[in-house]
Amino acid sequence: MTVHIGAQPGDIAETVLLPGDPYRAKWAADTFLTDVKLVNEVRGMLGFTGMWKGNRVTIHGSGMGMPSLSIYVNELIKDYGAKTLIRIGSCGGMQDSVKVRDVIVAMTATTLSTPSRGIFKEMNFAPCADYGLLRAAADAAQAKGTATHVGGIYSSDVFYDERPDLTEQMTRHGILGVEMEAAELYNLAARHGRRALAVLTVSDHLLTGEALPSEDREKTFGDMVEIALEAAFA
Ligand code: HPA
Repeated sequence: MTVHIGAQPGDIAETVLLPGDPYRAKWAADTFLTDVKLVNEVRGMLGFTGMWKGNRVTIHGSGMGMPSLSIYVNELIKDYGAKTLIRIGSCGGMQDSVKVRDVIVAMTATTLSTPSRGIFKEMNFAPCADYGLLRAAADAAQAKGTATHVGGIYSSDVFYDERPDLTEQMTRHGILGVEMEAAELYNLAARHGRRALAVLTVSDHLLTGEALPSEDREKTFGDMVEIALEAAFA
């Protein structure tokens, strides 16, 4: 047990999928895993361990934003030995070519700041995905026929952004979408020599204002979970 995770030693698999929403963790575990066991519910942050095609996997909520994700990922890596960590979540589209429902596989994550700012100080570290996971996710997405984009995303500290000029600069520089967690996941994986990736569904669009109707979210989310699982065990 750690401060924020009530799991016993050995309860957490080496491969961990990290949705922001704990109820998405439950849905994904119930939908895609067998032999599912609840391994954490401290503060309502649900984690489940089960089997997928003969492989042991944990699906654990990260909460929203990089400080929350940092707490869980630090404990999952340092106390439970997680080796492969894949964020599954939603993002806002930032290019005309990126449509609502598309999947984005995040190669890099640009930021204004992350919880690692205090360590990096004046250095602008470039958080990037594990190449093997990235390639496997792109291959899995192509095999499924899911409309998928591979490239840079923006990990923001705010959902309600009051800097439209920044959005414009990101779009001008080819950033595909915005979310709030991937950069610190990539920082922590780099620091501890682990593999990390973020696979995201475009749930809304910053340029068009379009948003995915709630009844469509489950199917699109499911494609993303399968792509993440296939990448993890490729
Ligand atoms: N901004 C930040 N995070 C997000 C968004 C957004 O528009 N959509 C989904 N996650």
